[in-house]
Amino acid sequence: MKIMVVGGGGREHAIIKKIKENKDVTEIFALPGNGGMAKDATLVNIAATDIEKIVEFAIENKIDYAVVAPDDPLVLGCVDALEEKGIHCFGPRKNAAIIEGSKVFSKELMKKYGIPTAQYEVFSDADKALEYVESCPVPTVIKADGLALGKGVIIANTREEAKDAVVSIMKDKQFGKSGDNIVIEEFLTGPEVSVLSFTDGNVVVPMISSMDHKRAGDNDTGLNTGGMGTVAPNPYYTKAVADECMEKIFLPTIKAMKQEGRTFKGCLYFGLMITSDGPKVIEYNCRFGDPETQVVLPLLESDLLTVMMAVTNETLADCDVKFADKNACCVIMASEGYPVKYEKGYEITIPESLENNVFVAGAALKDGKLLTNGGRVLGVTCIEDSLEAAIKASYEAVGKIHFANAYYRHDIGQKALNCKED
Ligand code: AMP
Ligand code: GLY
Repeated sequence: MKIMVVGGGGREHAIIKKIKENKDVTEIFALPGNGGMAKDATLVNIAATDIEKIVEFAIENKIDYAVVAPDDPLVLGCVDALEEKGIHCFGPRKNAAIIEGSKVFSKELMKKYGIPTAQYEVFSDADKALEYVESCPVPTVIKADGLALGKGVIIANTREEAKDAVVSIMKDKQFGKSGDNIVIEEFLTGPEVSVLSFTDGNVVVPMISSMDHKRAGDNDTGLNTGGMGTVAPNPYYTKAVADECMEKIFLPTIKAMKQEGRTFKGCLYFGLMITSDGPKVIEYNCRFGDPETQVVLPLLESDLLTVMMAVTNETLADCDVKFADKNACCVIMASEGYPVKYEKGYEITIPESLENNVFVAGAALKDGKLLTNGGRVLGVTCIEDSLEAAIKASYEAVGKIHFANAYYRHDIGQKALNCKED
């Protein structure tokens, strides 16, 4: 079987490595992939958002199955375009990907179907939004409606900050058209949990839970990033919380999407906050999370391609999806200065013994050398029986990987360890 994976980061590398375990797979193409995955996939220089070229490539190369991993191509309708040409895909169609593509849509969906989330107001007029923040409680959370490279959420601690956020999103168009509409919502507190799930639109199978570390600096300081590390499972996600999420959030969401004529098939990511009032949805993503995927998929014991195809064929109910009863920790090694400004082009050395533990995101091959080529360069994942051991192993591995200007957080997993001690 010939497989094509659209995307080029650590998440895609984790997906590719897992798919490779299937004996029927003869070749995997990564569009565009990155130099660090050259041993695992054939790199094809087509951007993940160039839908026309992606479809053309799939037809010409007789691709049997396509995985569309990133948010942009999903929201742009990449799966619809491939399916129109008869290519089977993993990923939601455009009309379902809107659950991530529009925060206004997802908030209205949750309100309509009684799915627990933060209270909110929607604004399309900047002056009305400015008037609202004059008297709204603070802190408050301002969200651009559309995709904004994970940066469209501003937590304003004062009314002044809230006003600045409204002006920069709606008037100065910091995120372009994504800021034509905004959501202003209640500030919630509590531990955050990421739950990625497989769903074929009828049943939903949550994967092992995980915890992201979004801020750039130790102890959750500094700017928000795409994610600096993850652990799985997330100890805050107890059996009782999981049951409540299934009943009040996961199943109602799948049913709501179906009822709206927007059946969701693929990986639906629930970003949750466990508040004193129960679990609430912070965000939906229409795809695997990154770096969550780099701890979740290595713990998957079932064959990923089989599960993905069951999603496509709507036979997920008959599919066994098993995770190892172990702990995983992923530490992201970034370029110093990420997420703002950083240098590229430094040689990366990875000992051969660690190749199975590394998922490469921002790297390019030049004259046979692997060079840094992005903010998040790679993720290092170790699996052990305990969380403590997984964290220790990951940091030991990080110590053996070298490139100039490497930066990483030193406290990935500490919050999860503290929870276990509570
Ligand atoms: P998002 O891009 O929606 O994941 O938001 C980024 C981060 O902002 C989340 O991971 C939360 O830490 C935080 N956040 C988003 N919405 C809220 C909220 N209503 N209350 C508190 N924190 C929030
Ligand atoms: N790690 C958060 C995300 O993938 O959106």
